[in-house]
Amino acid sequence: MQSTLDRKDHLHIAIIMDGNGRWAARRGLPRTFGHRAGVETVRRIVEAAPGLGISKLTLFAFSSDNWRRPAAEVAALMGLLQTYLQAELQRLIDGDTRLTVIGRRDRLPEGLAQAIARAEQATTRGARLRLRIALDYSARTAIAHAAICMALPISIDRFARLVTQATDDDDSPQEVDLLIRTGGEKRLSDFLLWECAYAELLFTDRMWPDFSADDLRAAVSEFRRRERRFGGLGDGSPQPQIANMTA
Ligand code: IPE
Ligand code: IPE
Ligand code: MG
Repeated sequence: MQSTLDRKDHLHIAIIMDGNGRWAARRGLPRTFGHRAGVETVRRIVEAAPGLGISKLTLFAFSSDNWRRPAAEVAALMGLLQTYLQAELQRLIDGDTRLTVIGRRDRLPEGLAQAIARAEQATTRGARLRLRIALDYSARTAIAHAAICMALPISIDRFARLVTQATDDDDSPQEVDLLIRTGGEKRLSDFLLWECAYAELLFTDRMWPDFSADDLRAAVSEFRRRERRFGGLGDGSPQPQIANMTA
């Protein structure tokens, strides 16, 4: 079990990358231009993350509720994601980054699903940064998926592990240390509800295309100034593991 102090050097940061559409609208541009600019931000942030003590980065790219958007915007987003995966693959490998995608795969366009499989396969050895992209992702669906297994006679500990596994495929800690949401809204929009149980929350008015490596550095500094207590007295006791729920 890692201490709170140790965990600070292996931060798991999750980001709700919001504000692309408004960024574009303010410039009199179509929303898709904002999404395109947002991809550039992803590139910058992925590059900056390891140098800031971040070992796991989970980015919310497309929620299961985003299917409700106009078909043309959805198609543009899917196309951009596919292009990102193909264009960035070598850079991810060179950066020692392991990429995985969380969320449903069965509703994604075939080309995108293939690009995901290829990128995941090609980056399995990445050890410096674990990059997780949440695509067609819904935290409630992930939890419900695990809850179905509750129909089986299993323990709470096993249930907790199932929820965690439903959203990832490694056994490193899934708990989010810091959740950042750009774009000014102060809500979670069905993102990592389970994993954010004790996450520090940081909401910024900065639109995602304007979010910089300096903003990420400032967010990490703010995180380091906060005292996390995990229900204890803030004396450095270890973070409770989810599986301790039965204790
Ligand atoms: C976030 O930006 C990207 C996705 C949700 C896919 P938005 O597209 O939600 O931008 P706003 O919130 O409308 O500005
Ligand atoms: C959350 O943003 C999803 C992503 C950033 C991918 P939304 O823009 O979809 O969230 P709401 O609709 O404002 O809650
Ligand atoms: Mg939005």
